[in-house]
Amino acid sequence: MIGITIGGPKGKAATLDQPLEHLMACHRRIEERLDTLERAGRFLWERREEALEAIRNAFAFLDRNGVMHTEDEEQSVFPRLQGKLGAEQAALVQDLESDHQLAEATYAELKTIVEQVTAAPERNEELRSEYTSVVADLCGLYRRHIAREDTELIEIGSTVLTAAELAEIAVEMKRRRGLVNSDSL
Ligand SMILES: [Fe+2]
Ligand SMILES: [Fe+2]
Repeated sequence: MIGITIGGPKGKAATLDQPLEHLMACHRRIEERLDTLERAGRFLWERREEALEAIRNAFAFLDRNGVMHTEDEEQSVFPRLQGKLGAEQAALVQDLESDHQLAEATYAELKTIVEQVTAAPERNEELRSEYTSVVADLCGLYRRHIAREDTELIEIGSTVLTAAELAEIAVEMKRRRGLVNSDSL
């Protein structure tokens, strides 16, 4: 695993100097949270508090790091690919953007179910299958999405983006995380 979780802000800033590698490192961390959501679903009724805490921790990660990751792609990477892609590659980027929207809607649905689980334990039986089904949708969608990005998107980015563009992306990613002062740009 790439050492993105190691070190404080300084270490983080260093790994952000390789933005494409950083995106892939984030994918590994997102996959870990997807695994947690699936695993927690199996224990949500037998070890309810423990499972809910694991789910909330995964949500906290996705709400912060997951959102910034999507912004990295949609605001920093995808716009710099525009105008440089063939039809097939442009279609890939469109697919990835659609995946983001669908994943966001599915994730919102999952959060609503977890709120209901928390608020109404008496509805456990009914909510059990809803949770399992929506988590399966989210994990399936996002794992396929990540697999396409790790292979096709990274390949395109490595080929098409110049060193200067990668450096700009790195600065934007750091700024998004509060690791660089916007005045110094
Ligand atoms: Fe993505
Ligand atoms: Fe991604």
